[in-house]
Amino acid sequence: MTSPNIVWHHATVNRERREKLNGHKSVVLWFTGLSGAGKSTLAHAVEEELHQRNCRTFVLDGDNVRHGLSSNLGFGETDRRENIRRVGEAAKLMMEAGVIVLTAFISPYRADREAVRNLLPHGDFLEIWCRASLEVCEARDVKGLYKRARAGEIKNYTGINSPYEAPEKPELVVDTGELSLEDSVASVLRLLKERGIVAAPGNL
Ligand code: ADX
Repeated sequence: MTSPNIVWHHATVNRERREKLNGHKSVVLWFTGLSGAGKSTLAHAVEEELHQRNCRTFVLDGDNVRHGLSSNLGFGETDRRENIRRVGEAAKLMMEAGVIVLTAFISPYRADREAVRNLLPHGDFLEIWCRASLEVCEARDVKGLYKRARAGEIKNYTGINSPYEAPEKPELVVDTGELSLEDSVASVLRLLKERGIVAAPGNL
């Protein structure tokens, strides 16, 4: 609960002025999907392309954030909700700073993703569903965690013994289980152009 004794201080250097300086808009690209679906890989590959085109970017990545900002949280429903709330608030601040923020979290609960969407001005939350099937993610099992979850060594593992609520109206679906990384990146860049986040097609 926010204290009634805290008053918001308005900056003279605002988002609009930062965006003008940067030459692009800021936005939150929210990648969601199962563990191993390729959220981080895609977010970093998109960031690489944008950076090469002089855009200001930052990736908030599940595995990294859980080493710091959310190091005290686990994978039960309450902790996951708090994780996503923190990330949503952090992403909002970074967006105010003029940055194109790319977040890569399983974020399995629809209500939590919607809460972040509602935290941001309309149109500034672009939900990108990395739609790889459980079969594909489990077969990849990059970190060996699916195997351990199946063996009963990890509880609350998304897709195995914890739910993943698929997006109902994401701004973009990327079939990361089937598409090449190059094609996946291209579809995200297309979205950014369509939404007027980055400049004309010639620049990207
Ligand atoms: S979220 O549900 O809170 O959004 P987050 O994206 O931060 O999850 O972290 C997911 C990563 O943590 C997975 O990629 C995996 O490497 C690791 N992990 C460890 N335990 C679990 C678990 N029980 N369920 C899902 N991922 C887990």
